[in-house]
This record gives sequence, structure tokens and C-alpha cells, in this order.
Amino acid sequence: MKDLSLLYLSRQDVETVGLDLPTIIELLEKAFRNKGEGSVELPPKPGIHTRPNAFIHAMPAYIPALHSAGIKWVSGYPDNPQRGLPYISGLIILNDEENGLPYAVMDCTWITAYRTGAASAVSAKYLARPDSKTLGIIGCGVQGRTHTEAMTTLFPIERVYAYDILPAAQEKFISEMGAKFPDLEFIPTRHPKEVVTQSEIVLTAGPILKNPTPTIEKDWLQPGAFATAVDFDSYWKGEALQQMDKFTTDDLAQMEYYRTLGYFKDTPQPYADLGEIVVGKKPGRESPSERCMAMNLGLALDDMAIAPTIYQRAVEMGLGVRLPL
Ligand SMILES: NC(=O)c1ccc[n+]([C@@H]2O[C@H](COP(=O)([O-])OP(=O)(O)OC[C@H]3O[C@@H](n4cnc5c(N)ncnc54)[C@H](O)[C@@H]3O)[C@@H](O)[C@H]2O)c1
Repeated sequence: MKDLSLLYLSRQDVETVGLDLPTIIELLEKAFRNKGEGSVELPPKPGIHTRPNAFIHAMPAYIPALHSAGIKWVSGYPDNPQRGLPYISGLIILNDEENGLPYAVMDCTWITAYRTGAASAVSAKYLARPDSKTLGIIGCGVQGRTHTEAMTTLFPIERVYAYDILPAAQEKFISEMGAKFPDLEFIPTRHPKEVVTQSEIVLTAGPILKNPTPTIEKDWLQPGAFATAVDFDSYWKGEALQQMDKFTTDDLAQMEYYRTLGYFKDTPQPYADLGEIVVGKKPGRESPSERCMAMNLGLALDDMAIAPTIYQRAVEMGLGVRLPL
């Protein structure tokens, strides 16, 4: 028998690889094309729920076109930031598609942060107006940051309207992102309505709630605008969602699964999932005045689209620790 081992990559290792957003977006688009062609394996995620509004999910996926097979084991604990701990934490295991052996274990925090922004960017590529210049961020945390980076990769964004329920978080976002993107104008706001009514691309990224009391009303999102919600329907009233000309998600089966758990009571049936749009089975935006929206739930597909490339780059850079199996 050969000596068998795997490569362990810490959060710092994954960050050091620092895969660039154009590559992440390209890999995700490829994965969604593969999904639209029906050739990925992506079972709805099972999970355990140890505390109210907390989760630990198992997220396996196989993307043949990217030779990527593996699983993410990820937790989200809303109270963690108050304890000085990250809200999201977990690990990805990659398996060799030929023999099933695990060949890498890596921290999933950076990947989760960036792949989510990149999935929204793929949705926006097909559903937002290509000339969109204004971006609205509601929830100025990790996702607010990666979405700003991802959207500016694809769109000629000039102005970013920011809102957070915590004024300190909003100020920190504006000062940090202002330093990182000196060509963008960051505008603080005092109410989510200011963000939604003035932005051509809108992100909501507050906490996910099973029984939300949403804020965003019908007619706030302007005709021609695109919205992406990574916090499920927590921020959007049913009437505002019903008003979308094209309401989409990343995986129809996943949304159905969540409905059986009691989520999405006021959410309309999606017009399409992102794979169907990328592969051309259903058209994306068809006129400059449509209101379009992506409510992407977050798929193992997103993680498995980029984890093998991070592994490859880490090997080339000599990062990580080899562990015996
Ligand atoms: N769909 C996906 O694929 C996916 C992936 C990762 C995270 N998420 C979700 O995205 C959301 C944001 O994640 P994150 O990592 O950026 O969290 P984070 O804790 O870094 O940031 C959340 C921010 O939202 C702010 N906030 C809380 N309540 C608010 C409200 N009512 N209005 C405005 N701002 C509010 C907080 O002050 C904080 O700054 C979470 O709900 C998370 O579960 C979804």
C-alpha cells in the first residue's frame, strides 16, 4: 500500500492563495453552465440545528467538467460575533473523483465569503443592466464587502449607497472600502429605502430569519434595477418580490426543500434557476425596464467550483501542511 496523505490548508493559507474575482466568477459560471446541462450532482443540503437561528450544514457536490468532488461542513452562528468568533466557520474536504480518496481539507471561510459574491455577480451578468452605475449595500458585513468587489469586477459602478443597522458597521465599511476602492463614491444612508430607491444593483445581506418581519416594500426597487438577496426573504416583503418581472434562485430543488422546513412563505415561485439562465434554456433580462432578482441560497456547487483551483495554487505556492491519512 502507498503512503496516503492529504493537504491541510488553514484560513490563512486560503487567503494567501487569494484567488482573483474574475477567475472565481468564471469558474462559477462554468459550474452553473454544467448544472444547466444537467450534469452536476447536487443533493439538497441536510443540516443540524443546535441553537435558534443557527445551523451546521453538510453540502456535497460533484462537478464533472471541473473534476471537482467534495463536501463543505459549514456552520452559521448569529451570536458568534458578540463572542469574538466568526459567524461562518467550517471545512471543505476534496475527494479524488477517480478513487474517492480525500486529498485536501481546507478552511471554508474565505471561499464562502467570495463564492457568494461571485454567484450574485453571475446572476447579475444575466439579469442586471450592463450599464449599471449605482450599487446599494444593505448589511455592511462580509457579504457587503465581497459583493462590492464582485459587482465592480463586472459593472461600471461609480457610487455605492450603504446601510447597516449598526452605524459603526456602516462607518467601518465606508472607510475600509473607500480606501480599497478610491475611485468609488461611498454614500452613507439612514434608511434602507434610500438604498433601494437609488440603486441599479441592490444587495441585502442581513441575518437570515425563518419568520422574518421584512422591510423592503413594493415600488422601492426601480424599473430596470436588479436585486440580489443572500439573506433569503428576510428583507423583502412578499408584494415587493411578487413585483419582480424575473424572480430567480440558484437551485429550484433547494428552494423547495427550504419551503418544506417552513421558509419562504411569501416568496413567489422562481421563474428560473441560474443554471437554466446561463445555459440559455430561459432568457435572462429581456428589456431595460424589467425588475429582476436573484435569491441565491448558496450551493455546494459554488464551493466545489473554486476549491480545486485553490488547492492547485496552494500546491504551486508550497502552502499548507501534509497530514497522513
Ligand atoms: N446565500 C448564501 O449563499 C449565503 C452565503 C453566506 C452568507 N449568507 C448570509 O448572508 C448574510 C450576511 O452574511 P455576512 O457573512 O456578511 O454576515 P456579517 O455578520 O459579516 O454581516 C451582516 C451585517 O448585517 C448587519 N445587520 C444586521 N441586521 C441588519 C438589518 N436589519 N439591516 C441592516 N443591516 C443589518 C450587521 O450589523 C452586519 O454588519 C447572513 O444572513 C448569512 O447567513 C448567505
